Amino acid sequence: MKKVIAIFGTRPEAIKMAPVIAELRKSADLDLRVCVTAQHRGMLDQVLSLFDITPDHDLDLMQPNQSLDSLTARLLVGVGQVLDREKPDLVLVHGDTSTTLSSSLAAFYRKLPVGHVEAGLRSGSLLAPWPEEMNRRIATLATRFHFAPTERSRQNLLAEAVEESQIYLTGNTVIDALIETVARLKRSPDIRAEFERRFGFLDSNLPLILVTGHRRENFGAGFENICRALVDIVTDNEVQIVYPVHPNPNVLAPVERLLGGHPRIHLIDPLDYAPFVFLMERSHIIITDSGGVQEEAPSLGKPVLVMRDTTERPEAVDAGTVILVGASRERIVSETSRLLGDSAHYARMAQAMNPYGDGKAAKRIRAVIEERA
Ligand code: UD1
Ligand code: UDP
Repeated sequence: MKKVIAIFGTRPEAIKMAPVIAELRKSADLDLRVCVTAQHRGMLDQVLSLFDITPDHDLDLMQPNQSLDSLTARLLVGVGQVLDREKPDLVLVHGDTSTTLSSSLAAFYRKLPVGHVEAGLRSGSLLAPWPEEMNRRIATLATRFHFAPTERSRQNLLAEAVEESQIYLTGNTVIDALIETVARLKRSPDIRAEFERRFGFLDSNLPLILVTGHRRENFGAGFENICRALVDIVTDNEVQIVYPVHPNPNVLAPVERLLGGHPRIHLIDPLDYAPFVFLMERSHIIITDSGGVQEEAPSLGKPVLVMRDTTERPEAVDAGTVILVGASRERIVSETSRLLGDSAHYARMAQAMNPYGDGKAAKRIRAVIEERA
């Protein structure tokens, strides 16, 4: 049997690896191990329990307000030790986090083949998203099996002279996770009723704006602008905002200081994936700087304002369901007002589409690993 080790550490990696893990577990040809670095702790555990994943290794290495260099150093050593113990035939990593960078590098130092899920995303700027664009480029260099979610990402890899035969167009596994979770919500009236009760503080007569934000590029002035824009939005419009706040202290502190106590801005803890999907479905507009949310919202037919200047996920911008507004107070406010006031514009942006996948990405990844790894 081939031994495959999947390594991940943050919330989005876990959500997007969960469908792959579920598929690989079904394979009689593969011996699957799961290593979590716990670069995130609470937000990772939320996903592990939802998708019923029990890791074989848990490095438990999150520290409060961790710096990129100490995090990366601890990751490299910790993952290296696990690889020495497990001696896998394939190391599976996801995306562009510090865990991705360190795990692919640790695998490269041992000359182990790497499979990179969500390969080939590029913004074109090493500083946005920072440090993720560097992380994903390094992962590409160490990778043997590139699982590209879209044709655009496949082209990005080809432009960097990655061998065509090593690239597999799979779709993004986030759509697998989303479709499964939406279906679970649909067939479980009890869960829906529980979420209705849980979010009973929301006013059913007011349009709901769902907000998330955590990018390092927006720390400082960016988050100040974002928070002031949100206050402007609820001051000028009859709407309500719900904002599950990322626990990074560089986010939490300004958000609580500038938005805490406002009657129509609900600051809540990070949500488990299922209630978050429930809220995405329930929302009228989504304002975010998240990579994953940018991919999910078009599938749900929700207009998204992305608080970034560039994106490595241009497909939904081209399709017209996402608008980039940067961390500009004026742009966030004016584009939100336009969506609230212009129903034809809203309808154009709210067309459901799936530019990122069809829900079968994990199956394709499994087939490649079984046949080629
Ligand atoms: C990380 C990733 C980013 C990804 C994001 C998803 C890097 C460099 N960044 O950013 O690509 O988009 O995760 O959310 O890999 N914290 C907690 N509990 C948690 C998680 C985080 O308290 O469950 C706090 C801790 O103080 C931690 C800090 O947030 O030190 C930052 O976590 P870290 O993983 O370093 O960066 P993120 O900003 O979360
Ligand atoms: N998400 C969640 N709970 C929340 C906020 C987001 O489960 O309270 C999910 C969201 O649906 C998406 C993922 O987390 O799948 C995105 O994570 P994040 O924004 O932290 O990271 P990014 O995608 O920007 O790397």
